[in-house]
Amino acid sequence: MAPSTHFKLNTGAQIPTVGLGTWRSEPGQVRQAVSFALKNGYIHIDAALIYGNEYEVGQGIKDSGVPRENIFITSKLWNTHQPNVAEGLQQTLKALGTDYLDLYLIHWPVRLVPNESSALLPVNPDGTRSVDRSWDQSESWRQMEEVYKAGKVKAIGVANWSIPYLEELKRKWTVVPAVNQVELHPFLPQHALKEWCDKHGILLEAYSPLGSEAPLMSDPAIQEIAKKNGVSPATVLISYHVNRGVAVLPKSIKENRIVSNSQVITLSREDMDVLNGLAAQGKAKRINTPLFGWDLGFDDWYER
Ligand SMILES: NC(=O)c1ccc[n+]([C@@H]2O[C@H](COP(=O)([O-])OP(=O)(O)OC[C@H]3O[C@@H](n4cnc5c(N)ncnc54)[C@H](OP(=O)(O)O)[C@@H]3O)[C@@H](O)[C@H]2O)c1
Repeated sequence: MAPSTHFKLNTGAQIPTVGLGTWRSEPGQVRQAVSFALKNGYIHIDAALIYGNEYEVGQGIKDSGVPRENIFITSKLWNTHQPNVAEGLQQTLKALGTDYLDLYLIHWPVRLVPNESSALLPVNPDGTRSVDRSWDQSESWRQMEEVYKAGKVKAIGVANWSIPYLEELKRKWTVVPAVNQVELHPFLPQHALKEWCDKHGILLEAYSPLGSEAPLMSDPAIQEIAKKNGVSPATVLISYHVNRGVAVLPKSIKENRIVSNSQVITLSREDMDVLNGLAAQGKAKRINTPLFGWDLGFDDWYER
């Protein structure tokens, strides 16, 4: 059976299964990458205010000539904007040059308090991140529900939320998050989180699907599956998610990779079993660990 091109969100909307990532795509390069991707079959772009390139992403969207309504655009509320979601959203909409988002996510379950050190990545005098440990995430979610109900975003969700954080949010939510965007790949398959999200109708999205390059691409088991299927390791890593019902967000600024990363193949049950089992065989690895000095509730991730 051909792999799915779209999944259905709990809002009823369709989300394209593969989206172009834009983190660490330099402003000078991302405009062309986004425009090229949209002209070459992508219809889903993953952006965020903290990436510092939303204006150029918006220019790339404009350059592509693809009508806004044909594109699925995601962005994320940055940590310093948690007490004022509408303001964070407005900055993003202005930068992207659009009047709505298809999906808006709380980027991290962490509020940062801006100070003179930085507006977006503030630190305390001792160099630790300026985290507001008393901030109630359900208040950020309540404001997310407000912008959703006002029609400024077509769906709302979270990113980097573990099961304990989701359990806590569940006590207060009136709108169930449509998406949880987390680091996912065969070295970090997060089977328990996938089960929890499936049970609650929350779609998982895989960030860093290529492991931000090393060490996934060179893993012998992944290379073997790639060889067997006559595709690149990147195609196996991207296809892995779509085959398990997860949307995937590979990032590239290179035209040949943007094209090849949109290719998704159907993987056999046997290949999926191998990929799903790699972490349990001692290869477990989290790659993206920003230092918030905060336990984010993931089994493998404390006090970072
Ligand atoms: N919510 C969050 O907290 C969060 C965190 C991290 C990422 N994300 C989202 O997820 C997206 C993807 O994650 P990511 O950027 O960390 O990493 P990724 O997509 O796993 O890997 C990107 C890296 O792989 C290279 N690459 C891309 N395609 C390749 C290919 N076919 N063969 C070999 N190398 C290839 C890219 O270089 P070139 O550009 O030079 O091709 C880049 O260095 C981000 O861009 C962002 O949109 C979200």
